[in-house]
Amino acid sequence: MNKITSTELRNKYLAFFKSKNHAIIPSASLVPDNDPTVLFTTAGMHPLVPYLLGTAHPQGKRLANVQKCVRTGDIDEVGDDVHCTFFEMLGNWSLGDYFKEESIKMSAEFLTKVINIPLTSLAVSVFAGDNDCPKDEVSASVWLSLGIPKERIFYLPKKNNWWGPAGITGPCGPDTEIFIIRDKKPCGKDCSPACDCGKYVEIWNNVFMEYFKQADGSFIPLKQKNVDTGMGLERTVAMLNGCQSVYETDVFLPIVKFLKESATVEKEDALRNIKIIADHLRTATFMLGDDKGVTPSNVDQGYVLRRLIRRSLRFARGIGIKPECFTAVALMFVDIYKEQYPELLKNKDKIFNELSAETLKFEATLSQGLKEFDKLKQYIQNSRMSGKSAFKLYDTYGFPLEITLELANENGITVDTEGYEACFKEHQAKSQAGADKKFAGGLADSTEETAKLHTATHLLLASLKEVLNDNNINQKGSNITAERLRLDFNFPRPLTADEIKKVEDKVNKAIKDGVSVVMEEMSLESAKALGATGVFESKYDTVVKVYTMGGYSKEICGGPHATNTADLKGFKIDKEGSSSAGVRRIKAVLSND
Ligand code: SER
Repeated sequence: MNKITSTELRNKYLAFFKSKNHAIIPSASLVPDNDPTVLFTTAGMHPLVPYLLGTAHPQGKRLANVQKCVRTGDIDEVGDDVHCTFFEMLGNWSLGDYFKEESIKMSAEFLTKVINIPLTSLAVSVFAGDNDCPKDEVSASVWLSLGIPKERIFYLPKKNNWWGPAGITGPCGPDTEIFIIRDKKPCGKDCSPACDCGKYVEIWNNVFMEYFKQADGSFIPLKQKNVDTGMGLERTVAMLNGCQSVYETDVFLPIVKFLKESATVEKEDALRNIKIIADHLRTATFMLGDDKGVTPSNVDQGYVLRRLIRRSLRFARGIGIKPECFTAVALMFVDIYKEQYPELLKNKDKIFNELSAETLKFEATLSQGLKEFDKLKQYIQNSRMSGKSAFKLYDTYGFPLEITLELANENGITVDTEGYEACFKEHQAKSQAGADKKFAGGLADSTEETAKLHTATHLLLASLKEVLNDNNINQKGSNITAERLRLDFNFPRPLTADEIKKVEDKVNKAIKDGVSVVMEEMSLESAKALGATGVFESKYDTVVKVYTMGGYSKEICGGPHATNTADLKGFKIDKEGSSSAGVRRIKAVLSND
């Protein structure tokens, strides 16, 4: 197989799908908009859910991109050869355009003709069929016609060959997965892509999204049949270069080398520590460097970031790597990724400052916390640590629960996690508990209520700019549940009661005026020229949707929205407070009368 760099693979992939009439769309932010049940973008399809459900995409029915993704569900596996909490997904989509045959043919052409993987090195799996959906004979016959012999076409059940929904409900369907066959012995006579012995490494997943899973667990056909594919960039580069692990590829090599040189304590499995540090710091760099600005905190995205940094510090200590090395590693990542993700360069100072502040803060309590752990250990009965002790480690020494669990595990102790949760609730840190639950991620539905709250968010942002007389105020984050909206925006100080009242009045005036919510599609340039607000993530010539609400608001956004501001009935700010340095957070609700 041909050697290839990460940059070459990205470029070849996008050029190939452009030549097949796909519009190249930018990577969305790592922080999804208006999605109450997930903290981070977990797949390329994630920001495209409205379009998979039938809304017309401004750039057409064929799309492709490279999406930055975070998945922390498998955090315990990081340290092996392939798991990462951050990864790049190469994706192409058909929104009601081509389906199985064309999708599979394009994938095969890309793999065998563009990046020159011999057909003999590929195996595929297809859906075996069940009560919800028939056996996928169509995909199997296309693969057969392309030269994959039937011994290398595996029929597998839903557990293996079905993707989605990402949340409880949403678009989903059977998939066909493509594997590289590695040059090693099969683990037994039943060895197949379903086992994880390493003989078969999945590189691409083509999902045929033709169903919608409902809340009662049943599946109904979607209005349009879509294709959603995802190829793991790091894994594919590793396979093509004959690397044992993703940490041997070009995006990790300099960092692994630097960390090896910085380690001062010899340990048998030091490489595992190095892989964990490299992975977590890459993820932290992308979170801190995102235009939607995550900073370490005790809630939601900020808490995930904090956990990653603190966990890396513990593993660094294990092999004598000084915390000062962390910012050097982050800056190396900025350098490696700056062409593909220019936001990292733009936010370089923030990455540096926040990372050094967080490492300093935790380093100061880590030693004391470890001593406290040793002390607590002596009083433990039946090798079980009480929830109260685990909570003390969190509350006083800043130990995220997983650090306590890992330490306990290394010492042959279990932890009463339910007791820990109970203490947590007692201390009314509900939002943080929520962050723990949302760690693995999922997708929300958009309902009429959330659409209205979303519209209110636009009116709120516009009113803040006006009342505070500051046109540089921007949305730094948004989260909408069925009950309330939450908006984070940059502003240096708390709002006064009078300002809060004025903002509320302004939003309520827009509601009372009952103006239509009008959507127009236009180029990003025209949107900017018209003074539309929004996070300008794109570096391509993009067509965007601009939502205008009379003279009140003009904002770039994907929707969905209420059709008239009158639908919102009444608006009230529940809470205004600090989210992180220089960022304020407002929670607000709509009334029904
Ligand atoms: N959504 C599918 C995945 O995440 C394909 O993109 O694997």
